[in-house]
Amino acid sequence: MSDNEKNTVDVELKNVSKSYRIGSSEVEVLHGINHTIKGGEFVSIMGPSGSGKTTLMNLIGMLDHPSSGSILLDGVDITKKSQKELVNFRRRTAGFVFQQFHLIPSLTAYENVALPLVFAGDRGQDGVTEAMERVGLSHRIGHKPNELSGGEQQRVAVARALVMKPKILLADEPTGALDGKTGEMILSLLKSLAGEMTVVMVTHNSELGAQSDRIINLLDGKIIE
Ligand SMILES: Nc1ncnc2c1ncn2[C@@H]1O[C@H](COP(=O)(O)OP(=O)(O)OP(=O)(O)O)[C@@H](O)[C@H]1O
Ligand SMILES: [Mg+2]
Repeated sequence: MSDNEKNTVDVELKNVSKSYRIGSSEVEVLHGINHTIKGGEFVSIMGPSGSGKTTLMNLIGMLDHPSSGSILLDGVDITKKSQKELVNFRRRTAGFVFQQFHLIPSLTAYENVALPLVFAGDRGQDGVTEAMERVGLSHRIGHKPNELSGGEQQRVAVARALVMKPKILLADEPTGALDGKTGEMILSLLKSLAGEMTVVMVTHNSELGAQSDRIINLLDGKIIE
């Protein structure tokens, strides 16, 4: 495969810090993170509540800016991009999955999965059927979220993340709202996607974390080796 066909992305974090302003004070919650995630890797971010996992995920996913340091996706420094460039780049690069699925209740599974294409102004919806097949839900395309189990809803959310053919999939506690067996199914699905794309998952579940290629342990805003 030539470089421009490559559909994974290396992530390099260089001295990344993040502070939040609360009232008149600045609180630093990530402190000078240096770390590389290789294209196609499946990594889990683990650590206590408040250690900065979601903050780190949001920075990698370009949903937020670091206060200092740089983040390179395949060598491209995303901290140097304008807001407009970033929106486009994010759309083409990253897919997101959240703990609470965040599906739109009034739309069918198919329509939920098609939404990123609609937002991107893409009229063709070929990718939707393919994404639904990929998560094993071709037989549920006409169902609304409340007609689906939790595990099925999360699979729809994964399909929605896949429809733009992301190079990196970011999942923040994707199994947090599911029972153990259903969580395992979502984990297997993410595992099957790794390699094809880079997968970064936040989890509190060490059994699930252990099934990824590697665990990043965060403590008080620092990676502990
Ligand atoms: N928008 C914000 N404004 C101010 N402080 C914030 C903001 N977002 C997060 N924080 C603080 O940053 C720290 C890290 O939060 P973060 O959400 O990254 O933790 P987490 O590891 O994901 O925790 P959890 O496991 O509970 O989801 C916490 O102390 C939190 O209160
Ligand atoms: Mg979090």
